[in-house]
Amino acid sequence: MCGIVGMVGREDAVSYLIEGLKRLEYRGYDSAGIAVPAPGGLKTLKSVGRLSALEARQTLSPLSGPVGIGHTRWATHGEPSERNSHPHLNQKQTIAVVHNGIIENYLELKQSLLEDGVEFLSDTDTEVLTHHISRCAEGRPFLDGFRQALGDARGAYALGVIHADEPGVLYAARLGSPLIVARGPKGLFIASDVPAVLPHVTEAIYLNDGELARISDNRVEIYGLDGSTRPLVWKTIDLDDTAADAGGFETFMLKEIHEQTRVLRGLLSEYVPGGAGTVLPDLHLDAEGFAGIRRIMIVSCGTAYYAAMYGRLLIEKYTSIPVETDLGSEFRYRDPKILPGTLVIAVSQSGETADTLASIKMAKAAGCRVLSICNVAGSSLVRESDHLIYTRAGPEIGVASTKAFTAQLMAFAIFTLHAARARNEMPAEELKSLLQDLLNLPNAIHYVLGQRNEIESIAGKHHEGPSALYLGRRFNYPIALEGALKNKEISYQHAEGYAAGEMKHGPIALINEYLPVICICTDTEDEVAEKMISNVKEVQARSGRIIAIATEGETRLDGVAEDIIFVPRCREPFSPMVNVVALQLLAYYAAKARGTDIDKPRNLAKSVTVE
Ligand code: G6P
Repeated sequence: MCGIVGMVGREDAVSYLIEGLKRLEYRGYDSAGIAVPAPGGLKTLKSVGRLSALEARQTLSPLSGPVGIGHTRWATHGEPSERNSHPHLNQKQTIAVVHNGIIENYLELKQSLLEDGVEFLSDTDTEVLTHHISRCAEGRPFLDGFRQALGDARGAYALGVIHADEPGVLYAARLGSPLIVARGPKGLFIASDVPAVLPHVTEAIYLNDGELARISDNRVEIYGLDGSTRPLVWKTIDLDDTAADAGGFETFMLKEIHEQTRVLRGLLSEYVPGGAGTVLPDLHLDAEGFAGIRRIMIVSCGTAYYAAMYGRLLIEKYTSIPVETDLGSEFRYRDPKILPGTLVIAVSQSGETADTLASIKMAKAAGCRVLSICNVAGSSLVRESDHLIYTRAGPEIGVASTKAFTAQLMAFAIFTLHAARARNEMPAEELKSLLQDLLNLPNAIHYVLGQRNEIESIAGKHHEGPSALYLGRRFNYPIALEGALKNKEISYQHAEGYAAGEMKHGPIALINEYLPVICICTDTEDEVAEKMISNVKEVQARSGRIIAIATEGETRLDGVAEDIIFVPRCREPFSPMVNVVALQLLAYYAAKARGTDIDKPRNLAKSVTVE
């Protein structure tokens, strides 16, 4: 979604704002803008398209000043255009606002502003809020008016506001969309996330919902919407900034695909520190806590939903706990029966996805404990959760998720083994053998990465068609879905993932001599492998172009598949962590061959903070 940044600097703020926006561009990239107080009023600079266009304008007609706000937009209300891009101004041009979120009652507010004679220059909900703030602040201290306006707004917002009458001050507020206040030697900042300002700050305050901040040089005040003052809780930032460059890779996504061996090794060394013979450290859920789980409900969105589907299969295989999964956007609007003893697991790379957050709030209101599997410490999700498995994949810049996904799968493996042991549902010998197999996975991934040239040439043969079908069974069914999602996200080739056993119920009608059908055929523990091979033969009988992912040594696909990507033998329940890497590379090279903008695919945003 949109990204916002603001600064009260000890030197000129504009270059810091632009740098911050660049680092936030993964959140939205259809237009961008900045505003600063200047002699005679507020000045803005806006442009449509990528941030480079804004930078070019800044070179031509530079803005300057120690205070300012900036925004990179992912359109919700109104097409991407200069007039819809932020910052938005009130009529007197004395207030400028940047906003991430959606003001749900904007039409109602707009109607009353129209009745007051306000003229609108854009189609956005943000402009409505800007005029409303201006109206509320008329003739009274700005802070009071700002607070009143926020009290009238329904929906979600992270806001940065400047006001011509107080040119040294930056206002901010948060409800439902993430926002931090941070400080460092160059001054004070606000931002949608820490990485936006990471090189310049050492400490941050994570604003809570319903808080607003007044920031002037060296001074931060935080208030509740009721006017009460809030304590300043500064937290030291311990994030590594190496993620900010692609480190010699042609894109962030390719770099992040290659980081997966390291990410999984890191998780294993944290949660399985003594190797396979280890006693697993607890997850702040003691044996009693695990024993008390009668049911698990997993909620998530996007790629994280496929991780949840995998988690369900794994937990149900190795424990006696029944598991249900749902998309956040569905869960929150149905009438889920949340029974006593339900543990809700929320899976989210960002920890800011609006539908996932709303779902866990519902679950908490129903009395459930929440465990989050999340990649961002300090995110809204982590702060709302009772327990955390921190995936520690490091910042993921490529919009299509890769390393965060495999880390989520590993987090489910770790959770499952903990739960099975704590509930006395797994003999020590079996645990040892499973842990050994987990510990072998990073090497297996490394092996797949070593085949990237072969995978590139396979992608080169199949990328031109309009569509592709992905098939998998059981543990690799979610991986077929994820492989198809990766492909459509970055290459724009239509792709569908299907449970192979369902193929006869529809997608078989699509198969002809042009359709690439990607079949995950790696070894399984029982007859499922045979069933998968039969499905592949059915594709062959209809002349589909088969690309198989198969275990090394597999011969049943000789003469059947047009191309085979071989992966090392893995225990089936863990094979998704290896197989998905092959599919990420396949999607990656299809996208490269199609010439798309791989790190910033059209219309997508990394962090979906509106529903
Ligand atoms: C967006 C991203 C996806 C991500 C999904 C859920 O759609 O582009 O990569 O899977 O949001 O995000 P989350 O941060 O909750 O995992």
